[in-house]
Amino acid sequence: MRYGFTWGMGGITFYLFIVLTFTGVLLMFYYHPTKVQAFRDILYLEHDVPFGKLLRNMHRWAAHLMVITTWLHMFRVVLTGSYKRPREFNWCVGVVLLVLTLLLSFTGYLLPDDQLGFWAVTVGTNMARATPMFGSEGPFGPQLGMTPYNDVRFGLLGGSIVDANALLRSYIWHCIGIPLVASIFMAVHFWRIRKDGGISGPAPVMLEAEMKTTKK
Ligand code: HEM
Repeated sequence: MRYGFTWGMGGITFYLFIVLTFTGVLLMFYYHPTKVQAFRDILYLEHDVPFGKLLRNMHRWAAHLMVITTWLHMFRVVLTGSYKRPREFNWCVGVVLLVLTLLLSFTGYLLPDDQLGFWAVTVGTNMARATPMFGSEGPFGPQLGMTPYNDVRFGLLGGSIVDANALLRSYIWHCIGIPLVASIFMAVHFWRIRKDGGISGPAPVMLEAEMKTTKK
């Protein structure tokens, strides 16, 4: 676990996930995922709830940091060649964790129901139109009967526009669906580290004198 080797990045990422879970549950006490209340709840948190601003910003900053540390952790794994045998499977588990981390970030973006989140999710879900086979404008989509009213974008938003259903769906994915799946993948990730013989590292160095004694 030497920091010089791991940069502590996997551990810090996990720690941030715990902080996010804790502050996220506290935020849920003050937030309603409805068009009338969502943005008002954010203003209430920012200006009236004791330590509300601190709570919201702890959640926001931890979220930004988790995305950064996940990338840095992946970068370290590449630099130390730790994705190689026998750790290929754990690398793949890691790729799923990276996608889940980004999806957590993306679904959280819409929740304040402000202009920033609204347009980010508008642009993001518009890309889903171009999904092969499942998007109404993607390759083979129209041939398979996809329209703006039954394709993958429609499923993500719960409608054809970013509105109340999209807010509710984001909320459920953000607070229940993705954290649950991510927790399961993290448990598998940690179990695999042990199964693969612990964290990788340089082969143990043996002195010439020691080699002679083993030869005898
Ligand atoms: C939620 C995201 C993640 C968490 C919480 C997490 C956590 C950890 C932890 C605590 C370790 C132990 C060593 C260390 O601290 O560096 C580790 C190792 C490892 N992680 Fe992750 N990780 C995540 C994402 C990823 C990603 C995105 C990849 C690559 C695509 C990845 C691939 C690996 C591999 C291959 C190892 C074994 C490294 C070695 O033996 O040196 N992980 N992870």
